[in-house]
Amino acid sequence: MYRRENGSLFLEGVQLSRLLTGEGGLATPFFVYSAAQLRADWQAYAQAVQGRRAIIAYAVKANHNPVLMQRLRAFGAAATVVSADELHHARQLGFSAPRLLLHGSGKRAGDLDAALAAGALVSIDSEFDLAHLEQRAAALGTAARVLLRVNPNIDPQVHPYICTGLDDSKFGMSEATVEALRPRLQKLPRLTLCGLHCHLGSTLRSAAPVRDAARILLPLLARLRGDGHPIDTLDLGGGLGIDYHHDAQASAAPLPTPSELLEPLWPLLDELGLQLWLEPGRSLVGRCGALIGRVIGHKRTASKRFLVVDASMAQLIRPCLYQAYHHIELLEPAAEDPAAGPAGLCDVVGPVCESADFLGLDRRLGIPREGDGVIVYDAGAYGFVMASRYNLHLLCAEYLIEGATVRCIRRAETYEDFARTFTDHEVSVP
Ligand code: LLP
Repeated sequence: MYRRENGSLFLEGVQLSRLLTGEGGLATPFFVYSAAQLRADWQAYAQAVQGRRAIIAYAVKANHNPVLMQRLRAFGAAATVVSADELHHARQLGFSAPRLLLHGSGKRAGDLDAALAAGALVSIDSEFDLAHLEQRAAALGTAARVLLRVNPNIDPQVHPYICTGLDDSKFGMSEATVEALRPRLQKLPRLTLCGLHCHLGSTLRSAAPVRDAARILLPLLARLRGDGHPIDTLDLGGGLGIDYHHDAQASAAPLPTPSELLEPLWPLLDELGLQLWLEPGRSLVGRCGALIGRVIGHKRTASKRFLVVDASMAQLIRPCLYQAYHHIELLEPAAEDPAAGPAGLCDVVGPVCESADFLGLDRRLGIPREGDGVIVYDAGAYGFVMASRYNLHLLCAEYLIEGATVRCIRRAETYEDFARTFTDHEVSVP
């Protein structure tokens, strides 16, 4: 959806640098999303599951902007949520049971109550989670359909902070734990076990771990079915990565498409007559979003060159938290050509008072002018939703581009918005 015309970067029909210039120039930083890219990434999943029994349940945690979520719902997405408030938000936007699923390794009573009230599917992460759900269902006089989250101990080869499928992860239950639970699972009058779930981790670059996980889960699933549970669902989570490196890492193997991810699974699922749930987040909304900032200045130290921009870890914490690579470019060509060799490299850093505040290290960007626009690509997933107000940088705006149209889909927070929840009153201690 991006292209260069005479060096200027366009997203769909909009020359991005024009958003920053003149009277009505937008305040930076902000996130910008491409409607066409969102649709294309949805379509890749839609095509992959065409004619199959499958539910694509968007992982709301990746980006909860209502406009994007409503578009995904209109395309046909269900929703996966991880808290009562995410569940409430999804319901407000028209997502509803049975196409609503609650996850969480530490569901609070309020999370469970919200899921029970909404009739959402609940994934059980642990023995205590099972006990808590039973208690809440009894207290509320309701019932729930549940999946068991199994941790298959498979290494998805991703950053340790976003790996969830290994033994040392806090998520899910081992196969042995689920085996041991089998007698108890038969005595749960309020809970109906209808499937198994696993989510190995995020930014997967290969389909093999997902297929291996399915192979581990299916025999267990067959045994549980043998116990009389009406099991019809296998949920293999989300996790498919996106090409953050663009052509900077041309040697890396291309990422699997959703079709390539799913192709080996269909025979396994068909054999047991199962429907598939998937919970993509990043691969649906990551590519369509970018973070736009302006150059504040440019400086050298004895050993480094820094491009200081007004976007920062406060809007996009992924580089600093996971050493994640996001491709960065200038919206317009640099005033000067980059110097050859290491001298041409610079760290792209933000204004936050923290050495961890970087967006990209050792990048070749030339020497831009102050005020020039920069784009940090692929920031649609886990960008705004992980933003903070650190250093009191208030939450920024989000815009949606569709063809030549630009819509504001979240205005920037004002100081008054921020100050609204502050108070100073005595609390009576029970
Ligand atoms: N399902 C479950 C149970 C999950 O825990 C997650 C993400 C997803 C689905 C969606 O995964 P995706 O398709 O987006 O990879 N903040 C990190 C990512 C954390 C993901 C946590 N779970 C990042 O910025 O990379």
